[in-house]
Amino acid sequence: MTRVVLSLIVLGVALVGAELPRANAQSASRYARYRSVLEPLPETAPIPAGNPQSAEKVELGRMLYWDRRVSKTGATSCGFCHHPAYYGAEPMRKSVGISGDVHLRNAQTVLNAAFLKSQFWAGEQPDLEGQALGAVQSHVAMRSWPNEVAERLNRLAEYRELSLKAFGTPVTEEAIGKALATYMRTLITPDYPLARWLRGDETAMTEAQKRGMAAFVDKGCVTCHSGPAFSNSSLRRVQLPGGENDEGRARTTKNEGDRYFFKVPSLLNVARTPPYGHNGSINDLPGMVRFMGREMLKSELADGEVDDIVAFLHALTGRMPESFVRLRPH
Ligand code: HEC
Ligand code: HEC
Repeated sequence: MTRVVLSLIVLGVALVGAELPRANAQSASRYARYRSVLEPLPETAPIPAGNPQSAEKVELGRMLYWDRRVSKTGATSCGFCHHPAYYGAEPMRKSVGISGDVHLRNAQTVLNAAFLKSQFWAGEQPDLEGQALGAVQSHVAMRSWPNEVAERLNRLAEYRELSLKAFGTPVTEEAIGKALATYMRTLITPDYPLARWLRGDETAMTEAQKRGMAAFVDKGCVTCHSGPAFSNSSLRRVQLPGGENDEGRARTTKNEGDRYFFKVPSLLNVARTPPYGHNGSINDLPGMVRFMGREMLKSELADGEVDDIVAFLHALTGRMPESFVRLRPH
């Protein structure tokens, strides 16, 4: 009797074992075409000809990133609002600056910003060099003029010497922008489940994530959230709850036609960076996915579709670089 039971178990295990590869093969063929629609993030960020990477520049950028002496009152640093505990972003709806003043917008993650064709929620800055200086100057973020910061830092031998090694000059406004940009080009997360699946690992994503990927593409999310960083960099009209006071692109262009136009944001690591939207008004990912369906696709997504798309968005969470996670304060 026990022998019979045992052999039945053995037979069962053998059958399940045989089923698994077949299920995988079926799933592989069902989703194969999405491999030509989606692309994995490259292993390195694009590097502009005018600012090649070097170990000294990255180190100078890392020091600046974490140093509160870069802010006027010593209250903030880049890392204060863009912290690894929150995947390079922050948990509050809107940023709070050096004197407790509230910014108009939520801080995006710095991770993979190096892959974006423009920076900030309405694409106001074309590159990371300009973005970094903009953040240093910004009235809310740090309120220091980069040349004042340079003067302050040059009084410290470690900054002066490292800048001499990196740029051949003491710290200057240009060196601050370039060093911060160089550091941010190392803050990338190319290792995430979708990327592993796109490179051929069938087991890297769950079935729900694969269904979500199909819905994401077939429903049309991918028309805007395309390319390796899931952003085509275009500006789209979108109005979030409570968003009346932020006119988006029109704030800088003063052009009526640009009112409420915002940049399509990257979706890499999005599961780790709530709350959502430029004013942080949407608390969670299911809420944001539903809102996108309604606002951008003019379609009400079914609960199952929302769940699958959310599962898929979790497959975009990558491993953060060790140098970002392991803080080395000085
Ligand atoms: C007080 C909080 C705060 C500080 C400090 C701060 N930021 Fe930001 N950061 C923000 C906010 C808010 C935004 C969105 C701004 C917007 O769209 O107008 C942002 C946007 C960005 C972006 C754009 C990412 C994208 O997807 O477009 C990058 C990159 C960035 N910050 C890097 C930095 C760097 C480098 C520093 C230090 C020099 C810094 N930030 C300091 C709050 C902050
Ligand atoms: C017509 C272009 C377009 C389409 C289609 C689109 N989106 Fe978006 N998406 C945007 C824009 C623009 C934003 C920025 C909204 C804002 O200003 O906060 C955004 C924001 C998001 C965010 C929030 C990101 C963050 O960091 O806060 C998520 C998540 C998202 N979209 C997912 C989706 C999903 C899922 C779909 C399909 C159901 C989709 N989007 C369809 C343009 C689009």
